[in-house]
Amino acid sequence: MKTTISLIKADIGSYPGHSRIHPELLEKAAKMLKDAEGKVIIDSFVTHCGDDLELIMTHTKGEDNPQIHKLAFDIFTACAALAKEKKLYGAGQDILSTAFSGNVKGMGPGVAEMEFEERGSDPVLCFMADKTEPGAWNFFLYKIFADPFNTAGLVIDPGMHDGFIFEVHDVMEKRKIRFRTPEELYSLLAYIGAPSRYVVKYVFRKDGLIAASTSTQRLSLIAGKYVGKDDPVMIVRSQSGLPAVGEVIEPFTIPVIVAGWMRGSHHGPFMPVGLPDANCTRFDGPPRVICLGFQVSNGKLIGPVDMFDDVGFDRVRARCNELADVLRAHGPFEPHRLSMDEMEYTTLPLVEKQLKDRWEPIGK
Ligand code: F6R
Ligand code: MG
Ligand code: MG
Repeated sequence: MKTTISLIKADIGSYPGHSRIHPELLEKAAKMLKDAEGKVIIDSFVTHCGDDLELIMTHTKGEDNPQIHKLAFDIFTACAALAKEKKLYGAGQDILSTAFSGNVKGMGPGVAEMEFEERGSDPVLCFMADKTEPGAWNFFLYKIFADPFNTAGLVIDPGMHDGFIFEVHDVMEKRKIRFRTPEELYSLLAYIGAPSRYVVKYVFRKDGLIAASTSTQRLSLIAGKYVGKDDPVMIVRSQSGLPAVGEVIEPFTIPVIVAGWMRGSHHGPFMPVGLPDANCTRFDGPPRVICLGFQVSNGKLIGPVDMFDDVGFDRVRARCNELADVLRAHGPFEPHRLSMDEMEYTTLPLVEKQLKDRWEPIGK
């Protein structure tokens, strides 16, 4: 039997503003998933990161299954209706279309899924972020699966000594490419160092075993206008010939700067937090990430464990706060504000439109 994990998320309304999901929405989603257990799915867990409702589901139906996607879609629709009733902010925001046609991809929600034959014991980590974009995982996936200074196992575990394969998606041109590491490290970095366009979608071990899967949906590209950031999710398998749990979360001790934050228009530090801190407040942020650890056992989710609820991550949080102060002091100036080509996907072009007739030629 193969087990599939589907991690599907959407911002369907929050309070106050874009800061967090209302507990009644979490309850509704959890209840709908419970009702589906034993029928469409095996097990489930519901949580939120900031204003994003996160559905973690296990089943045996593989990736892109219409029944699973329909279940997620129905939950988001029902929760959006509740959010509308309460006049929560941005109610229904990520449901860009109401006509479900078999898959929520391209409709607004973010999707990370992976199907695998369960090993003797299978530790799985689910990462969920708010106020940033899918390419935010690139840096961390590189460190986890390709950097021997992060992952000792790349050097000393014969099970992963051969390295990994990264599947990279070009979200602008809708094309994909695979790179083998360590032999093609520099080619991989040539692309994934530009995370607004090139996004690591999957990582496989050289023998084909799936190790990581991410969401790559870019809302503005789907909707054709700014509708909030894409707030990505990621699933990573661990141990026994894959990076250890501690190797998977170690790169999050680095205060990496990502795009997103206020109005999806600013660079900010990506802060790893425990569940009680998964609420975006300061300047609608800063961008943050949570990680839930599970053992997957015959499709059952044993857990979760709140992985960043650890004093070991206090220092990175303090450094993120310092960086947040430095960047915030720049106000509307780059590099706090995104570069002009990235601002194309925000609300700035609307302001430029208002001013366009005021410009005059300089002449010679
Ligand atoms: C970022 C985000 C928020 C909003 C901001 C303005 O992803 O969702 O920072 O962009 O609160 O929201 P509006 O335009 O709805 O007032
Ligand atoms: Mg929102
Ligand atoms: Mg969000």
